[in-house]
Amino acid sequence: MKVLKTNKDLQEVLQQIRSEKNRLGFVPTMGALHEGHINLVNKSIDENDISIVSVFVNPKQFNNVEDFEKYPNTVQSDINLLEKAGCDYLFLPDFNEVYTSAYQPVNIDLGAIDDVFEGPLRPGHFDGVVQVVNILFRLVQPDMAYFGLKDYQQCMVIKALRDQKYPKINLSLCPTVRAQSGLALSSRNKRLSDKGLEKAAFIYKALKTVNELKKHIEADDAVKYGAHILSTHHIEVEYFALANAETLQPSRKWLRSGKNVVLAAVWIEGVRLIDNIVF
Ligand code: PAF
Repeated sequence: MKVLKTNKDLQEVLQQIRSEKNRLGFVPTMGALHEGHINLVNKSIDENDISIVSVFVNPKQFNNVEDFEKYPNTVQSDINLLEKAGCDYLFLPDFNEVYTSAYQPVNIDLGAIDDVFEGPLRPGHFDGVVQVVNILFRLVQPDMAYFGLKDYQQCMVIKALRDQKYPKINLSLCPTVRAQSGLALSSRNKRLSDKGLEKAAFIYKALKTVNELKKHIEADDAVKYGAHILSTHHIEVEYFALANAETLQPSRKWLRSGKNVVLAAVWIEGVRLIDNIVF
C-alpha cells in the first residue's frame, strides 16, 4: 500500500488510475480503524479495481474540544490493518492539505435532516462533516464511496451532499458491524473499561427489544420500555426515539408503510455512543 500525504501526490495517482480506466472505490475515515472500517474497505476492494482510504481527523466536525483531543490516533496500526486488508492507497493529509488557503465552505440544503437528534445536540457537527466530505469527494472523485450505517443520520447528510453536488458518485451505505455482545463497533469503544463495554452491550439489546415489541404494543410504549432497559443499567440516555427512516422525523406511532428507525445516543464512562436499528 502506498501512503499519499499531499494532494499533489494524490492527483498524480488519480490521473494514472483514470487513464487506465480503473474503477475507484473510496472509504473516508478518521482513523482508529476497527473491523467496521475494514468491512467497508473489503467491500471497496471487492467492488472496484483500486481502493483509496483516507484518514483525516477533521477538527471542524467536533463540537466538543475534549472529544477532539481525546480522539484516538493510531496511524501505525491503521496502516498495518489496511495493508493486511489489501488496500491500494492511503490518503493521509494534514490540516493544510485539506483546508487549503483556497477553502470555501460549501452550502447544502439539508432540509430537516439536521434539525433533529445529533443536529441540535452537536451544533456544527454535520456542517463539519459536509465540508470535509465535500473536499474529499472533490479531490478523489471516486466511482463508489463507502460509509457505515452506525452513523445513520450522517449517512442521510452525505446522501444529500451526493444528490446535490456529486450525482456521479455511488454511495454504499453498509450495515453496522457488531461485537459478539451486539455492541456496534466504534473508535470510541477504545475509551471504555471492560465494565463499560459490558454495559454498552445493552444499547443494542434495548434497540432490538423495541423492534421485537412492534408486533405486540404501541410504539410509544415500546420506546419507553427500551429506554427503561438502559436506565436500569445506569446508562445515561441523551435520546432514544423512533423516527421515520427516510425523513428522520420523530414519530410516536409505528410506520406501517415505510421503514422505522430507532436512534440512540447514550453516555457511558464519559464516552458518548450512538447506535440505531432500522426495521
Ligand atoms: O464517519 C466518519 O469517520 C467521519 O465523519 C467522516 C465521514 C470520515 C468525515 O470526517
